[in-house]
Amino acid sequence: MIETIQWTDDGVVMIDQTRLPNEELYVTCRNYVEVADAIRTMIIRGAPAIGVAAAMGVAIGARDAAEENLDAQFEAICAELASTRPTAVNLFWGIERMKRLFAEIRHLPVDEIRARLIEEAKLVRVEDIAINEAIGRHGAPLVPDGKTVLTHCNAGALATAGYGTALGVVRAAVAAGKDIDVFADETRPFLQGARLTVWELQHDGIRATLITDNMAGHFLKSGRIGCVVVGADRIASNGDVANKIGTYGVAVLAKENGIPFYVAAPISTLDLKIPDGDHIPIEQRGAAEVTHVFGTRIAPEGTEVQNPAFDVTPNRYVTAIITEKGVARAPYGESLSELAAKV
Ligand code: MRU
Repeated sequence: MIETIQWTDDGVVMIDQTRLPNEELYVTCRNYVEVADAIRTMIIRGAPAIGVAAAMGVAIGARDAAEENLDAQFEAICAELASTRPTAVNLFWGIERMKRLFAEIRHLPVDEIRARLIEEAKLVRVEDIAINEAIGRHGAPLVPDGKTVLTHCNAGALATAGYGTALGVVRAAVAAGKDIDVFADETRPFLQGARLTVWELQHDGIRATLITDNMAGHFLKSGRIGCVVVGADRIASNGDVANKIGTYGVAVLAKENGIPFYVAAPISTLDLKIPDGDHIPIEQRGAAEVTHVFGTRIAPEGTEVQNPAFDVTPNRYVTAIITEKGVARAPYGESLSELAAKV
């Protein structure tokens, strides 16, 4: 299995996703500032993986914090990690989980507090893998046999602690004996599809074909694609889905061509406090991601650029949302809150 992120005695070890597929390099973040930088620079990315990194960042920060003003330092650590990326709600979920535990165990001796926070962060990682396997179990029956699954961005093992959400559904369908393959959108501008999705599917021996983003409509019309499965960075209570920029276009094209559009995500990606997708903060990233490809300029000097990293797909385009607790369908206002409440 691909190891995305692990806790070690030396620090938090992550596979450097900015170097894949050309180099399989692991970086060790030795303090919380390095963990925050790794999230910001996308050494680690993908909503659930960011949630795990955040929990481990809090744990490593607390491990190093002086006993004297532990409370103030704990707050500063959480604030620094929370400032890294705005859209994936799993970041804030991971931090909140650690904050809740800290409040509960604050009366204990400091060594015990530190040990408990580290255990919790490790648990977040282990739980995430189990959650993805459950998403796979719920999603696999929805995947048509003998057809192609189209996906956007990377919602695989690399975007999680392991197994993946959208690619977890693909893995589970393959494990169930379905004869499927995957079309991966390259996912401009950061190329998660080309660099990461294809790499990890090849790693697992699952047939993958790379297409550029503007080919999606052509293939969705061709009759070859059985369904679309993507991940999510934040899902509003009405089922509007924020995911990697370009997802919205794929969803509209899928509906136009009568192809089911599935979103695979853990319950921790639900943001039931917000009514709809208009309330989801969209990260704006630097112009160089658009004007340059691997350091080479492809647009004239002085070009004005927009670079929203995510878009919001309105719930009417979403056929179903696959979670570890089951499959939600419209009306999402009811189905998502029912699933979230399920024990
Ligand atoms: O900018 P990224 O690479 O962090 O964006 C990742 C995505 O949009 C994924 O599709 C999403 O986080 C789901 S990952 C299981």
